[in-house]
Amino acid sequence: MPADIDHHELTTTRRTVQSFEMLQASPAAQWPAAPGEADARCGVPLARVKQALARFGDGRPALVIDVARVRYNARRFAAAMPSVRPHYAVKANSDRRVLQALAQQGVGFEIASSTELDLVRSIGVPAAEILYSNPVRATGAIEYAARRGVEWYAIDCVQELGKFAALKPDAKLYLRIETSNEGSDWPLSGKFGAGEADIDPIIEEAVRLKLDVAGVTFHVGSQCRNPENWRTATRSARAVFERLTRAGLRPRLLDLGGGYPVQLTEATPSIEAIGTLIGQELAQFNRDIEVIAEPGRFMVADAGCFVAHVIGTALRHGQRWMHWDAGVFGGLFETIDGLRYNLHAERDGVRVPWYVAGPTCDSVDVCMRDQLLPENIVEGDSIYVLNAGAYTTACASQFNGFALPQVIVIDTRTD
Ligand SMILES: Cc1ncc(COP(=O)(O)O)c(C=O)c1O
Repeated sequence: MPADIDHHELTTTRRTVQSFEMLQASPAAQWPAAPGEADARCGVPLARVKQALARFGDGRPALVIDVARVRYNARRFAAAMPSVRPHYAVKANSDRRVLQALAQQGVGFEIASSTELDLVRSIGVPAAEILYSNPVRATGAIEYAARRGVEWYAIDCVQELGKFAALKPDAKLYLRIETSNEGSDWPLSGKFGAGEADIDPIIEEAVRLKLDVAGVTFHVGSQCRNPENWRTATRSARAVFERLTRAGLRPRLLDLGGGYPVQLTEATPSIEAIGTLIGQELAQFNRDIEVIAEPGRFMVADAGCFVAHVIGTALRHGQRWMHWDAGVFGGLFETIDGLRYNLHAERDGVRVPWYVAGPTCDSVDVCMRDQLLPENIVEGDSIYVLNAGAYTTACASQFNGFALPQVIVIDTRTD
């Protein structure tokens, strides 16, 4: 066991992993509904966000994240899909306290790099609870993970199989297949996923190399608001199970990937509706399989409220511009491809269209165009970006010398 593992945490994690089966979602959030229109759209009461900022804020843009809500989300996910074991996608928000909250709920983990592996292990998560779902890794990364006991690795091409034959011939591999990302606000198809014509060559090469292709996975696209994507993907995966079996392999893991959405600005299916659909599809598998999922956004997005400050307003060619201290490079990266958040400004002026831009000199740093906000916003105002706990601080950089956003972790159950 490496020296960096905290033994108390390890015991706690093991204990809670064992109690995973008993988890049930609470019927409602664990705090009384806070008043205000913005609170109805936000998973963390704004009063608690402001309280935390007043106590701990240092003036930078900040993400206030509530681990009570993270734990609640884990329980809600488990109740919506009782036969599916979630493995949190660390990339969505890798704050250690968030990871600990999820480990305490019996959630496993999905990683993309050696750094994420170290992080998850440092809170005491056993290697058996960790899946390596990045389908192409450097040779050194495979060696690093194999030495630390990671057993499960995603693949989606013949070329990656050679690395496993050489470095970890007993790896349990799961084949990522291409699937529709239509209706997902942040599509992920087009980079990873074996296409129809790629699948047989991969199976043949795996058989030749005596590798264990033990499962199938897919990703329906992040913030997927089209539940049919899970239906189509699960059916395709079932067909691939048959092909693997016919080739003499022993598939036994179905990994439903990520994509589970949270309420942002558009109509969004509930996790319960998605869970019901998935349950119907799983019933069609006439074999004994283990089913897991890799939710990232769902676990953390509505547990977080991102707060940015107006650094200046401008009128250019008759267009109002609001410049704030966090932009595409400072936390609001996903706006670059059109993801939209609900914003809350503490002004009651008439709502008019604004262009909203980050503080850097790059012209790509424009988060929103024609965003409705009160007309009387002024420099110094705080703007609250609701349900922004995922892929915000995780994607932030210090481009142009601007500081990284602050992360303030609260626990509305105990604080
Ligand atoms: C392999 C893999 N699994 C899971 C996720 C998490 O997806 P989401 O946050 O949409 O649930 C991602 C996101 O990029 C991913 O690449």
